[in-house]
Amino acid sequence: MTQLVYTEEELWRSHDYARPHVVAGQRLHGGFDAQGRYVPPRIRVRGPAIEAWITALRQRGGDLLAADASLLEGVRYPTEAQQKLLIQEGLGQTFWNTLTITGLIEARGRVLADLTFPDLQDVLEEDVSRMAVGHLNKGLLHIHGIDEGGEPGKGIGGHDVMWFAVRDLAFGETRWPVPAVPERIGRPDSLGGEFAEIDNRYEQVISFLLNLLLIEFRAEIGFRFSQQLLRDPELFVERRAQAEEAAEIIGRIRADEEIHVRSLRLYLGELRSLTFKTRDGGRKPGHEIIDPFWQRVAHWATVEQPKLQAEQQRAVLTERIRAHPEGARIQARFDALEHA
Ligand SMILES: [Fe+2]
Ligand SMILES: [Fe+2]
Repeated sequence: MTQLVYTEEELWRSHDYARPHVVAGQRLHGGFDAQGRYVPPRIRVRGPAIEAWITALRQRGGDLLAADASLLEGVRYPTEAQQKLLIQEGLGQTFWNTLTITGLIEARGRVLADLTFPDLQDVLEEDVSRMAVGHLNKGLLHIHGIDEGGEPGKGIGGHDVMWFAVRDLAFGETRWPVPAVPERIGRPDSLGGEFAEIDNRYEQVISFLLNLLLIEFRAEIGFRFSQQLLRDPELFVERRAQAEEAAEIIGRIRADEEIHVRSLRLYLGELRSLTFKTRDGGRKPGHEIIDPFWQRVAHWATVEQPKLQAEQQRAVLTERIRAHPEGARIQARFDALEHA
């Protein structure tokens, strides 16, 4: 019979790497196999376990939550062409900030490693011990957090340190100040109280998982965007080799994130297929709770949030361009590219 129950120790296991992952003297998570291919950390058992739970879910008639990053593929501000112009005009601080903020947000993900979530079993009718949601507090969320924020105590960098390495490879030393991270990257009213039928504590877990999935999708789009800029032969001309290496590191972060997206879609897919116990002692099918919740979170991320983000960015960029000695010329080019 397929193994569907795992110990925490099993889920933490990594592959035996032929070579550790080191960039510019900094030890990073993951490693390389004998063929020199990058292998993400802690997926030796976790990887097959996720696939086994997916198969079991499908055999029960369920499936992964139907969602992918294309959901967020709207207009990006600044656009890639605008970002390129800024870098070429010596205003690369914008891209530098983007890479820094991405790293700082990844670092925040480490909080997952220190939290214990309310046990969803308490609000679910079915036994979840043989499902992924039954393992959230048995390692899955802790490992997710460590993937994002690394193991600073052991000197091993996670995604935060990887993004800073990307930035420093591309730009070298700069004197720009570290930017502030926008306060909330999840939906502002994601603190619960949307579905009074189930206890707030569990609703918050669901909200957390949905918002985390959105953050992962947004990251995925950011990967492509950043890799294209780093691989552009007309950019970082003095540092082509370093910029190429930076793009490769992003490729590794991207490989690590695959299991995050897949597992989040799995947790939510399992929850859709289960039965929730309501506050009043009743029962409610999971999809009636998850689907409208996801609709609202996704609406915010695809319609409301991009508008707010673009407004904020526009103000910052106008200011930055104006400070340039040839601000007027650059602003005109910048505006022309907006609709290009
Ligand atoms: Fe990450
Ligand atoms: Fe992630």
